[in-house]
Amino acid sequence: MRSAISATLPRNPHFDDSRVVWSDAFSGMYEPVAYDEQFDDQWRLFLERKTGFCDHTGVETSDEYIDDRIAELTGVKDVLYRRKWGPLASTVARLSGRTARQERRGVGGRLWLEPKFSLQFFEGKRCLDAGCGAGRWTKTLKSLGGNMKSIDVSSHGIESTRRFHDDVSKCSIFDIPSRSELHRAFDFTLCWGVVMCTHDPRAAFSAVASTVKEGGALYLMVYAPTYHTSPQVLEWRARYHRECRTFEERLQFAYSIADRPENAINLLDMLNTFYNWTIPLDVCTEWFRAEGFKDVVLLNRNEPHACGLHMLGTKS
Ligand SMILES: C[S@@+](CC[C@H](N)C(=O)[O-])C[C@H]1O[C@@H](n2cnc3c(N)ncnc32)[C@H](O)[C@@H]1O
Repeated sequence: MRSAISATLPRNPHFDDSRVVWSDAFSGMYEPVAYDEQFDDQWRLFLERKTGFCDHTGVETSDEYIDDRIAELTGVKDVLYRRKWGPLASTVARLSGRTARQERRGVGGRLWLEPKFSLQFFEGKRCLDAGCGAGRWTKTLKSLGGNMKSIDVSSHGIESTRRFHDDVSKCSIFDIPSRSELHRAFDFTLCWGVVMCTHDPRAAFSAVASTVKEGGALYLMVYAPTYHTSPQVLEWRARYHRECRTFEERLQFAYSIADRPENAINLLDMLNTFYNWTIPLDVCTEWFRAEGFKDVVLLNRNEPHACGLHMLGTKS
């Protein structure tokens, strides 16, 4: 495990310039950081099954959690479970305590997506999970028949996602422009929680958008200027980055502010990254339009207290 956190960091827009809400006028103004390191300890601790880094909506890849992800995307519950148990599914669910575990599986929140994808939507489609992390969305789309490719810069993320299929590569989204095999190659690209953690979300979006074929769709999740611009989050992030000198100290800090230890990864996701931009809806909508997408929808417009934007567009 790395211990000392590098002291020589580039200018931080949030702490040095009081900029938390992204504007495209900032494009090109900030420097990349070691993206391959930022999440790597999280995914390593996930693989080690450390409390707070697994059994959580935001990361877990076991079938019970993937059934939750499938239900969020499609509205259809217990797909994998019913595939496994067939007509015995409801009896086994009752006897095994699956139903009772439902509440614990809610740690980290639920999605409010509308419209839902049909159960058949991903079948046979060439799909890219850009910034796949430990692979929860890769496994979800694959379970629904998607022909997956997954990329990430974290070695442990790659190791985790390789448990589900072979077409997994270590690749930064900023390197997509030089990877011609990724251009216009996908019917569906999902980029969840990645572009806002970079020095240039606009450039990151453009790279990810270039992977979508004509007629294909792009699903983007970024933070909205709500919870993540709150004084509480900004104070936590400042303490995490300025006062905690080692990864161990940072981990302790995350546990200390978590409502329960099982929720540590939720906090680390927002504390850990050097960049934690929030993106206004109109800026995001304009990104889609400028990259040739139409029918752009905010899928979680009905979500109360939404801290993220879930956007879908189709490339024309
Ligand atoms: C918040 S996690 C989300 C993981 C996954 N999309 C999910 O929803 O479970 C962000 C992921 O993006 C990856 N990432 C960050 N910067 C990246 C970059 N420049 N290129 C590719 N992946 C990147 C991180 O390694 C991490 O796995």
